[in-house]
Amino acid sequence: MAAYRIPFNRPSIVGEEIEYVRGAIEGGHSAGDGPFTARCSELLSSWLGGSPTLLTTSCTHALEMCALLLDIKEGDEVIVPSFAFVTTAGAFALHGAKPIFVDIRPDTLNLDETQLREKITERTRAIVVLHYGGIACEMDAIEAISRETGVPIVEDNAHGLLGTYRDQPLGTFGCLATQSFHETKNFICGEGGALVINRADWAERAEILREKGTDRSRFLRGQTDKYTWVDVGSSYLPSEILAAFLCAQLEARDQIQQRRESIWQLYQEELAVWAEGQGIGLPHVPGHCTHPAHLYYMILPTADARSRLIEHLGERGILAVFHYQALHLSQMGNQFGGRAGQCPVAENVGDTLLRLPLYSGLEDSEQAEVIEAVQAFRVG
Ligand SMILES: Cc1ncc(COP(=O)(O)O)c(C=O)c1O
Repeated sequence: MAAYRIPFNRPSIVGEEIEYVRGAIEGGHSAGDGPFTARCSELLSSWLGGSPTLLTTSCTHALEMCALLLDIKEGDEVIVPSFAFVTTAGAFALHGAKPIFVDIRPDTLNLDETQLREKITERTRAIVVLHYGGIACEMDAIEAISRETGVPIVEDNAHGLLGTYRDQPLGTFGCLATQSFHETKNFICGEGGALVINRADWAERAEILREKGTDRSRFLRGQTDKYTWVDVGSSYLPSEILAAFLCAQLEARDQIQQRRESIWQLYQEELAVWAEGQGIGLPHVPGHCTHPAHLYYMILPTADARSRLIEHLGERGILAVFHYQALHLSQMGNQFGGRAGQCPVAENVGDTLLRLPLYSGLEDSEQAEVIEAVQAFRVG
């Protein structure tokens, strides 16, 4: 792979990460559910309206836990936006569900709530929403449909930690929500995630599913004198070494967020005039939403223009990348009946969206270079 002077993403140490990792190992507890895991859970929970939050090995595994908690089985249907990560749908398909793909809105690139109601049948078990780039879905309308039909909402909140919709934190709307700490996210530990449990009565089962189907968490709290196999489950528990790293990142929240927000805002301001002149779309943030500056994207007028812009930036040592390809057009999506033309906005955005470098370690001078290089590009 070519080496880029300005990569798309660069994970960085922002605070006490290395000291905390040393502490986890020297403290004699490097397996899961030690003091760093507890600190991460408490912090996340305090950002998420007090809901119990369990660290997991990935957001994908947290989504699989959602499928287990919802008792998803063969023949069930789960609604997902077509413009989404593979496991936003795949975690439910793994348990036998058929994903029902819904198109996205052209402005926020989120599930188009006006197309949701017609997709719900008596087999629908969940509405999975994804707040693209941490800019919220239209939750008022989606919640109204959920209430009317009794179908629960699951939030894939991989992008949305610290975003809000009408002042309410993203991750607190669904009965369950999932977070990611993969290296491209705002807060990282290499690979990691969390499950946010907004239904108090599911908290105990979630602990059991995460601990290989055992009641070990109750045992560790002294609530039972031994632990045994009580349910299905798997090993969704990250080690303390990862939790220690993540803990330092979460504690550096202000530093990370201030830097990301300032980078995002500068792209938005500096590229506005150029983008308008070239017929290029930039992110739209509705007035009732705040977002955590997770990613910065542009929508080019054609797939060819996107390829040329990627090449133009690459020649200058800058890596810009595209994102999701419409899921209904994938090999698996086809097996679930996906066909071209079914979700035209997702198909088009999959072909034309481009993301620019955005990470807290991006220097001012590097961002200035990216902006200058982008502004030098002409669509046609
Ligand atoms: C929206 C969304 N959901 C889920 C995931 C999967 O996250 P993880 O890599 O933590 O499993 C990603 C990964 O980038 C994502 O973008």
